[in-house]
Amino acid sequence: MRPASVSDYRELARRRLPRVLFDYIDGGSYAEATLAANVDDLNALTLRQRVMRDVSRLSMQTELFGQTLSMPVVLAPVGLSGMYARRGETQAARAAKAAGVPFSLSTVGVCTIEEVAAAAGTAPWFQLYMIKDRGFMAQVLERASAAGCPALLFTVDLPMPGARYRDTRNGMIATNVAQKLSQAIDGLAHPGWLWDVQLNGGPHTLGNVAGAAAELRTITDFWAWIGRNFDPSVTWDDIAWVRERWKGPIILKGVLDVEDAAEAVARGVDGIVVSNHGGRQLDGVASGIAALPRIAEAVGDRLTILMDGGVRSGLDVLKALASGAQACLIGRAWAWSLGARGEAGVGHMLQILRGELRMAMALTGCTDVRAAGPHLLDR
Ligand SMILES: Cc1cc2nc3c(=O)[nH]c(=O)nc-3n(C[C@H](O)[C@H](O)[C@H](O)COP(=O)(O)O)c2cc1C
Repeated sequence: MRPASVSDYRELARRRLPRVLFDYIDGGSYAEATLAANVDDLNALTLRQRVMRDVSRLSMQTELFGQTLSMPVVLAPVGLSGMYARRGETQAARAAKAAGVPFSLSTVGVCTIEEVAAAAGTAPWFQLYMIKDRGFMAQVLERASAAGCPALLFTVDLPMPGARYRDTRNGMIATNVAQKLSQAIDGLAHPGWLWDVQLNGGPHTLGNVAGAAAELRTITDFWAWIGRNFDPSVTWDDIAWVRERWKGPIILKGVLDVEDAAEAVARGVDGIVVSNHGGRQLDGVASGIAALPRIAEAVGDRLTILMDGGVRSGLDVLKALASGAQACLIGRAWAWSLGARGEAGVGHMLQILRGELRMAMALTGCTDVRAAGPHLLDR
Protein backbone atom coordinates (compact mmCIF):
# COMPACT_ATOMS: atom_id res chain seq x y z
CA MET A 1 0.00 0.00 0.00
CA ARG A 2 1.16 3.51 -0.82
CA PRO A 3 0.37 5.44 2.39
CA ALA A 4 -1.57 8.64 1.85
CA SER A 5 -2.55 9.50 5.42
CA VAL A 6 -1.67 8.94 9.06
CA SER A 7 -4.29 6.21 9.26
CA ASP A 8 -2.58 4.39 6.39
CA TYR A 9 0.62 4.45 8.45
CA ARG A 10 -1.34 3.02 11.37
CA GLU A 11 -2.44 0.13 9.19
CA LEU A 12 1.12 -0.46 7.92
CA ALA A 13 2.44 -0.45 11.50
CA ARG A 14 -0.26 -2.94 12.48
CA ARG A 15 1.03 -5.31 9.80
CA ARG A 16 4.75 -4.85 10.50
CA LEU A 17 4.91 -4.82 14.30
CA PRO A 18 4.31 -7.68 16.73
CA ARG A 19 0.92 -7.29 18.34
CA VAL A 20 2.28 -6.50 21.80
CA LEU A 21 4.05 -3.42 20.39
CA PHE A 22 1.28 -2.28 18.05
CA ASP A 23 -1.24 -2.48 20.89
CA TYR A 24 1.12 -0.65 23.24
CA ILE A 25 1.23 2.28 20.79
CA ASP A 26 -2.39 2.13 19.70
CA GLY A 27 -4.14 1.54 22.99
CA GLY A 28 -5.43 3.72 25.78
CA SER A 29 -6.46 3.15 29.38
CA TYR A 30 -9.56 1.34 30.63
CA ALA A 31 -12.47 1.52 28.16
CA GLU A 32 -10.43 3.87 25.90
CA ALA A 33 -13.25 6.45 26.01
CA THR A 34 -10.89 9.42 26.33
CA LEU A 35 -8.68 8.04 23.57
CA ALA A 36 -11.75 7.95 21.30
CA ALA A 37 -12.89 11.40 22.46
CA ASN A 38 -9.52 12.91 21.52
CA VAL A 39 -10.11 11.87 17.92
CA ASP A 40 -13.89 12.32 17.78
CA ASP A 41 -13.91 15.82 19.28
CA LEU A 42 -11.36 17.01 16.71
CA ASN A 43 -13.44 15.46 13.93
CA ALA A 44 -16.56 17.15 15.26
CA LEU A 45 -15.04 20.65 15.09
CA THR A 46 -16.06 22.44 11.91
CA LEU A 47 -13.82 24.85 10.04
CA ARG A 48 -15.28 27.80 8.14
CA GLN A 49 -14.70 27.59 4.41
CA ARG A 50 -13.69 31.03 3.12
CA VAL A 51 -13.04 31.98 -0.51
CA MET A 52 -11.43 34.66 -2.70
CA ARG A 53 -8.83 35.72 -0.14
CA ASP A 54 -5.47 35.51 -2.01
CA VAL A 55 -3.93 32.42 -0.51
CA SER A 56 -1.02 32.31 -2.96
CA ARG A 57 1.43 32.86 -0.09
CA LEU A 58 1.00 30.83 3.08
CA SER A 59 3.32 30.93 6.09
CA MET A 60 3.44 27.92 8.38
CA GLN A 61 6.51 29.05 10.25
CA THR A 62 6.24 29.71 13.96
CA GLU A 63 8.46 30.42 16.98
CA LEU A 64 8.51 28.37 20.17
CA PHE A 65 10.87 29.07 23.07
CA GLY A 66 13.30 30.89 20.78
CA GLN A 67 13.29 28.12 18.15
CA THR A 68 11.91 28.53 14.64
CA LEU A 69 9.66 25.68 13.49
CA SER A 70 8.82 25.13 9.82
CA MET A 71 5.27 24.27 10.96
CA PRO A 72 3.52 24.24 14.35
CA VAL A 73 4.12 20.55 15.07
CA VAL A 74 6.37 18.84 17.64
CA LEU A 75 7.07 15.11 17.89
CA ALA A 76 5.78 14.15 21.34
CA PRO A 77 7.82 11.99 23.73
CA VAL A 78 6.96 8.37 23.06
CA GLY A 79 8.53 5.67 25.22
CA LEU A 80 10.24 2.56 23.83
CA SER A 81 10.50 3.90 20.26
CA GLY A 82 13.71 1.97 19.75
CA MET A 83 11.50 -1.14 19.76
CA TYR A 84 9.40 0.05 16.79
CA ALA A 85 12.36 0.44 14.42
CA ARG A 86 16.12 -0.01 14.75
CA ARG A 87 17.44 2.74 17.09
CA GLY A 88 14.01 4.29 16.48
CA GLU A 89 14.52 7.54 18.41
CA THR A 90 17.52 8.43 16.25
CA GLN A 91 15.56 7.77 13.04
CA ALA A 92 12.60 9.89 14.13
CA ALA A 93 14.88 12.68 15.36
CA ARG A 94 16.60 12.81 11.97
CA ALA A 95 13.27 12.96 10.15
CA ALA A 96 12.10 15.76 12.47
CA LYS A 97 15.32 17.71 11.92
CA ALA A 98 14.97 17.39 8.14
CA ALA A 99 11.38 18.62 8.38
CA GLY A 100 12.34 21.56 10.62
CA VAL A 101 10.33 20.53 13.69
CA PRO A 102 11.47 19.52 17.20
CA PHE A 103 11.74 15.92 18.35
CA SER A 104 11.10 15.11 22.02
CA LEU A 105 12.97 12.28 23.67
CA SER A 106 11.17 10.32 26.38
CA THR A 107 12.83 9.47 29.70
CA VAL A 108 11.94 5.89 28.79
CA GLY A 109 13.35 5.95 25.27
CA VAL A 110 15.69 3.17 24.18
CA CYS A 111 18.37 5.58 22.87
CA THR A 112 20.18 8.00 25.15
CA ILE A 113 20.08 11.78 24.87
CA GLU A 114 23.64 11.71 23.58
CA GLU A 115 22.97 9.06 20.93
CA VAL A 116 19.96 10.98 19.61
CA ALA A 117 21.77 14.33 19.62
CA ALA A 118 24.75 12.86 17.74
CA ALA A 119 22.58 11.05 15.17
CA ALA A 120 20.35 14.03 14.39
CA GLY A 121 23.03 16.70 14.68
CA THR A 122 20.78 18.57 17.08
CA ALA A 123 19.71 17.97 20.66
CA PRO A 124 16.11 16.85 21.28
CA TRP A 125 13.62 18.42 23.63
CA PHE A 126 13.89 16.24 26.72
CA GLN A 127 10.94 14.76 28.61
CA LEU A 128 11.21 13.99 32.29
CA TYR A 129 8.98 12.18 34.74
CA MET A 130 9.15 12.97 38.45
CA ILE A 131 11.18 10.09 39.85
CA LYS A 132 11.59 9.41 43.58
CA ASP A 133 15.33 9.14 43.20
CA ARG A 134 16.15 12.85 43.01
CA GLY A 135 19.85 12.10 42.58
CA PHE A 136 18.97 10.27 39.36
CA MET A 137 16.76 13.14 38.20
CA ALA A 138 19.46 15.70 38.88
CA GLN A 139 21.92 13.62 36.88
CA VAL A 140 19.58 13.31 33.89
CA LEU A 141 18.84 17.04 33.93
CA GLU A 142 22.56 17.72 33.95
CA ARG A 143 23.05 15.40 30.98
CA ALA A 144 20.19 17.01 29.06
CA SER A 145 21.58 20.43 29.62
CA ALA A 146 25.15 19.36 28.75
CA ALA A 147 23.82 17.88 25.48
CA GLY A 148 22.17 21.23 24.70
CA CYS A 149 18.50 20.16 24.90
CA PRO A 150 16.58 23.37 24.14
CA ALA A 151 13.48 22.61 26.25
CA LEU A 152 12.30 20.40 29.08
CA LEU A 153 8.92 18.72 28.89
CA PHE A 154 8.09 17.92 32.47
CA THR A 155 5.32 15.32 32.42
CA VAL A 156 2.99 15.67 35.39
CA ASP A 157 0.05 13.44 34.52
CA LEU A 158 1.63 10.16 35.52
CA PRO A 159 1.88 9.97 39.33
CA MET A 160 0.99 6.34 38.66
CA PRO A 161 0.43 4.50 35.40
CA GLY A 162 -3.13 4.11 34.09
CA ALA A 163 -4.27 0.52 33.55
CA ARG A 164 -4.08 -0.40 29.90
CA TYR A 165 -6.00 -3.61 29.42
CA ARG A 166 -4.38 -4.47 26.08
CA ASP A 167 -0.91 -4.35 27.68
CA THR A 168 -2.00 -6.64 30.50
CA ARG A 169 -3.53 -9.16 28.10
CA ASN A 170 -0.49 -9.12 25.78
CA GLY A 171 2.07 -9.33 28.57
CA MET A 172 3.61 -5.94 27.81
CA ILE A 173 4.15 -5.12 31.48
CA ALA A 174 4.75 -8.46 33.15
CA THR A 175 4.95 -11.59 31.10
CA ASN A 176 3.97 -15.09 32.11
CA VAL A 177 5.33 -18.16 30.32
CA ALA A 178 2.36 -18.52 27.96
CA GLN A 179 2.60 -14.85 26.99
CA LYS A 180 6.36 -15.14 26.45
CA LEU A 181 5.77 -18.04 24.11
CA SER A 182 3.06 -16.27 22.19
CA GLN A 183 5.26 -13.16 21.90
CA ALA A 184 8.08 -15.30 20.51
CA ILE A 185 5.77 -16.87 17.93
CA ASP A 186 4.36 -13.45 17.04
CA GLY A 187 7.92 -12.10 16.63
CA LEU A 188 8.67 -14.89 14.16
CA ALA A 189 5.52 -13.98 12.25
CA HIS A 190 6.94 -10.47 11.72
CA PRO A 191 10.34 -11.21 10.15
CA GLY A 192 10.95 -7.64 8.89
CA TRP A 193 10.69 -6.31 12.43
CA LEU A 194 12.56 -9.30 13.88
CA TRP A 195 15.56 -8.70 11.65
CA ASP A 196 15.57 -4.91 11.85
CA VAL A 197 14.89 -4.43 15.55
CA GLN A 198 15.17 -7.58 17.58
CA LEU A 199 18.31 -9.00 15.96
CA ASN A 200 20.09 -5.81 14.84
CA GLY A 201 18.65 -2.97 16.88
CA GLY A 202 20.09 -3.61 20.34
CA PRO A 203 20.91 -2.96 23.04
CA HIS A 204 17.28 -2.82 24.12
CA THR A 205 17.61 -1.04 27.39
CA LEU A 206 16.11 2.27 28.41
CA GLY A 207 19.27 4.25 27.74
CA ASN A 208 18.50 7.30 29.88
CA VAL A 209 17.54 5.21 32.88
CA ALA A 210 20.22 2.53 32.54
CA GLY A 211 22.63 4.35 34.83
CA ALA A 212 20.12 4.39 37.69
CA ALA A 213 20.63 0.78 38.74
CA ALA A 214 23.07 -1.88 37.58
CA GLU A 215 20.56 -4.74 37.72
CA LEU A 216 18.36 -3.22 34.97
CA ARG A 217 18.77 -5.43 31.90
CA THR A 218 15.45 -6.27 30.30
CA ILE A 219 12.45 -4.09 29.47
CA THR A 220 10.54 -5.93 32.23
CA ASP A 221 13.22 -4.92 34.78
CA PHE A 222 12.81 -1.34 33.62
CA TRP A 223 9.01 -1.40 33.97
CA ALA A 224 9.41 -2.70 37.49
CA TRP A 225 11.93 0.08 38.25
CA ILE A 226 9.59 2.70 36.85
CA GLY A 227 6.67 1.32 38.85
CA ARG A 228 8.73 1.60 42.03
CA ASN A 229 10.22 4.98 41.21
CA PHE A 230 7.45 7.20 39.82
CA ASP A 231 6.76 9.71 42.54
CA PRO A 232 3.08 10.11 43.51
CA SER A 233 3.97 12.60 46.26
CA VAL A 234 4.93 15.32 43.78
CA THR A 235 3.39 18.80 44.29
CA TRP A 236 3.62 22.25 42.72
CA ASP A 237 6.44 23.07 45.14
CA ASP A 238 8.66 20.57 43.30
CA ILE A 239 8.81 22.86 40.28
CA ALA A 240 11.25 25.04 42.20
CA TRP A 241 13.52 21.99 42.57
CA VAL A 242 13.47 21.44 38.81
CA ARG A 243 13.98 25.14 38.10
CA GLU A 244 17.14 25.16 40.21
CA ARG A 245 18.61 22.42 38.03
CA TRP A 246 17.26 23.42 34.62
CA LYS A 247 17.93 26.85 33.22
CA GLY A 248 16.06 26.47 29.90
CA PRO A 249 12.33 26.60 29.24
CA ILE A 250 10.13 24.30 31.36
CA ILE A 251 6.92 23.05 29.76
CA LEU A 252 4.47 21.17 31.99
CA LYS A 253 2.94 18.31 30.03
CA GLY A 254 -0.41 16.93 31.08
CA VAL A 255 -2.39 19.97 32.26
CA LEU A 256 -6.12 19.62 31.56
CA ASP A 257 -7.79 21.90 34.09
CA VAL A 258 -8.08 25.70 34.14
CA GLU A 259 -7.11 25.90 37.82
CA ASP A 260 -3.96 23.86 37.21
CA ALA A 261 -3.12 26.05 34.22
CA ALA A 262 -3.43 29.12 36.46
CA GLU A 263 -1.16 27.45 39.03
CA ALA A 264 1.36 26.72 36.28
CA VAL A 265 1.41 30.45 35.48
CA ALA A 266 1.84 31.30 39.17
CA ARG A 267 4.79 28.90 39.41
CA GLY A 268 6.50 30.61 36.50
CA VAL A 269 6.73 27.76 34.00
CA ASP A 270 7.24 28.75 30.38
CA GLY A 271 4.58 26.60 28.77
CA ILE A 272 2.03 23.85 29.20
CA VAL A 273 0.86 20.98 27.04
CA VAL A 274 -2.89 20.59 27.36
CA SER A 275 -2.94 16.82 27.31
CA ASN A 276 -4.47 13.67 28.76
CA HIS A 277 -1.43 11.60 27.75
CA GLY A 278 -3.12 10.41 24.57
CA GLY A 279 -5.98 8.81 26.55
CA ARG A 280 -3.53 6.55 28.34
CA GLN A 281 -4.07 7.79 31.90
CA LEU A 282 -7.43 8.72 33.45
CA ASP A 283 -10.16 7.45 31.17
CA GLY A 284 -13.26 9.64 31.19
CA VAL A 285 -11.50 13.01 31.32
CA ALA A 286 -12.01 15.68 28.66
CA SER A 287 -10.29 15.43 25.31
CA GLY A 288 -7.34 17.74 24.75
CA ILE A 289 -9.24 19.75 22.16
CA ALA A 290 -12.28 20.16 24.48
CA ALA A 291 -10.14 21.39 27.38
CA LEU A 292 -8.02 23.72 25.25
CA PRO A 293 -10.28 26.77 24.60
CA ARG A 294 -11.12 27.42 28.25
CA ILE A 295 -7.46 27.10 29.25
CA ALA A 296 -6.35 29.33 26.37
CA GLU A 297 -8.91 31.92 27.37
CA ALA A 298 -7.80 31.87 31.01
CA VAL A 299 -4.00 31.94 30.60
CA GLY A 300 -3.16 32.07 26.88
CA ASP A 301 -1.58 35.52 27.16
CA ARG A 302 0.71 34.46 30.00
CA LEU A 303 2.47 31.32 28.79
CA THR A 304 2.89 29.23 25.68
CA ILE A 305 0.08 26.73 25.16
CA LEU A 306 0.61 23.51 23.25
CA MET A 307 -1.90 20.69 22.96
CA ASP A 308 -1.94 17.04 22.04
CA GLY A 309 -4.27 14.06 21.78
CA GLY A 310 -5.92 12.76 18.64
CA VAL A 311 -4.05 14.88 16.09
CA ARG A 312 -4.09 12.73 12.96
CA SER A 313 -3.95 15.31 10.14
CA GLY A 314 -2.93 18.82 9.17
CA LEU A 315 -6.60 19.77 9.44
CA ASP A 316 -6.47 18.77 13.11
CA VAL A 317 -3.38 20.94 13.54
CA LEU A 318 -5.28 23.98 12.24
CA LYS A 319 -8.27 23.15 14.47
CA ALA A 320 -5.95 23.08 17.50
CA LEU A 321 -4.43 26.43 16.57
CA ALA A 322 -7.90 27.87 16.05
CA SER A 323 -8.83 26.63 19.54
CA GLY A 324 -5.95 28.42 21.22
CA ALA A 325 -2.76 26.35 20.87
CA GLN A 326 0.46 27.72 19.43
CA ALA A 327 1.47 24.26 18.22
CA CYS A 328 0.46 20.60 18.56
CA LEU A 329 2.36 17.58 19.70
CA ILE A 330 1.81 14.36 17.78
CA GLY A 331 2.41 10.98 19.42
CA ARG A 332 0.91 7.97 17.68
CA ALA A 333 1.15 9.60 14.24
CA TRP A 334 4.94 9.41 14.34
CA ALA A 335 5.17 6.15 16.29
CA TRP A 336 3.05 4.36 13.66
CA SER A 337 5.05 5.89 10.79
CA LEU A 338 8.30 4.88 12.46
CA GLY A 339 7.05 1.33 13.03
CA ALA A 340 5.86 1.12 9.42
CA ARG A 341 8.79 2.62 7.52
CA GLY A 342 11.41 4.02 9.91
CA GLU A 343 12.93 7.45 9.21
CA ALA A 344 11.45 7.60 5.69
CA GLY A 345 7.99 6.89 7.11
CA VAL A 346 8.23 9.68 9.70
CA GLY A 347 9.57 12.08 7.07
CA HIS A 348 6.76 11.23 4.66
CA MET A 349 4.08 11.47 7.36
CA LEU A 350 5.35 14.98 8.23
CA GLN A 351 5.10 15.93 4.54
CA ILE A 352 1.52 14.65 4.53
CA LEU A 353 0.67 16.78 7.59
CA ARG A 354 2.28 19.82 5.97
CA GLY A 355 0.27 19.34 2.75
CA GLU A 356 -2.95 18.93 4.70
CA LEU A 357 -2.23 22.00 6.82
CA ARG A 358 -1.49 24.04 3.67
CA MET A 359 -4.81 22.98 2.17
CA ALA A 360 -6.70 23.76 5.37
CA MET A 361 -5.09 27.21 5.55
CA ALA A 362 -5.93 27.98 1.91
CA LEU A 363 -9.59 27.01 2.28
CA THR A 364 -10.08 28.88 5.55
CA GLY A 365 -8.30 31.95 4.23
CA CYS A 366 -5.64 31.71 6.93
CA THR A 367 -2.38 32.89 5.37
CA ASP A 368 -0.22 32.75 8.50
CA VAL A 369 -0.45 30.09 11.21
CA ARG A 370 0.41 32.68 13.84
CA ALA A 371 -2.86 34.47 13.05
CA ALA A 372 -5.02 31.36 13.43
CA GLY A 373 -7.79 31.83 15.98
CA PRO A 374 -11.43 31.08 16.83
CA HIS A 375 -12.56 33.07 13.76
CA LEU A 376 -11.57 29.99 11.68
CA LEU A 377 -14.18 27.83 13.43
CA ASP A 378 -17.83 27.50 12.56
CA ARG A 379 -19.57 27.64 15.94
C1 LIG B 1 3.29 4.53 22.77
C2 LIG B 1 3.25 5.81 23.56
C3 LIG B 1 4.22 6.06 24.51
C4 LIG B 1 4.21 7.28 25.21
N1 LIG B 1 5.23 7.54 26.08
C5 LIG B 1 5.27 8.75 26.68
C6 LIG B 1 6.37 9.09 27.51
O1 LIG B 1 7.30 8.31 27.68
N2 LIG B 1 6.35 10.30 28.12
C7 LIG B 1 5.32 11.21 27.95
O2 LIG B 1 5.35 12.29 28.51
N3 LIG B 1 4.27 10.91 27.15
C8 LIG B 1 4.23 9.72 26.51
N4 LIG B 1 3.19 9.43 25.68
C9 LIG B 1 2.14 10.44 25.45
C10 LIG B 1 2.51 11.33 24.25
O3 LIG B 1 3.61 12.14 24.55
C11 LIG B 1 1.35 12.24 23.83
O4 LIG B 1 0.90 12.97 24.94
C12 LIG B 1 0.19 11.48 23.21
O5 LIG B 1 0.66 10.40 22.43
C13 LIG B 1 -0.65 12.40 22.33
O6 LIG B 1 -1.74 11.73 21.78
P1 LIG B 1 -1.73 11.11 20.30
O7 LIG B 1 -0.96 9.84 20.38
O8 LIG B 1 -3.17 10.89 20.04
O9 LIG B 1 -1.08 12.09 19.37
C14 LIG B 1 3.18 8.22 24.98
C15 LIG B 1 2.20 7.95 24.03
C16 LIG B 1 2.22 6.77 23.31
C17 LIG B 1 1.17 6.53 22.26
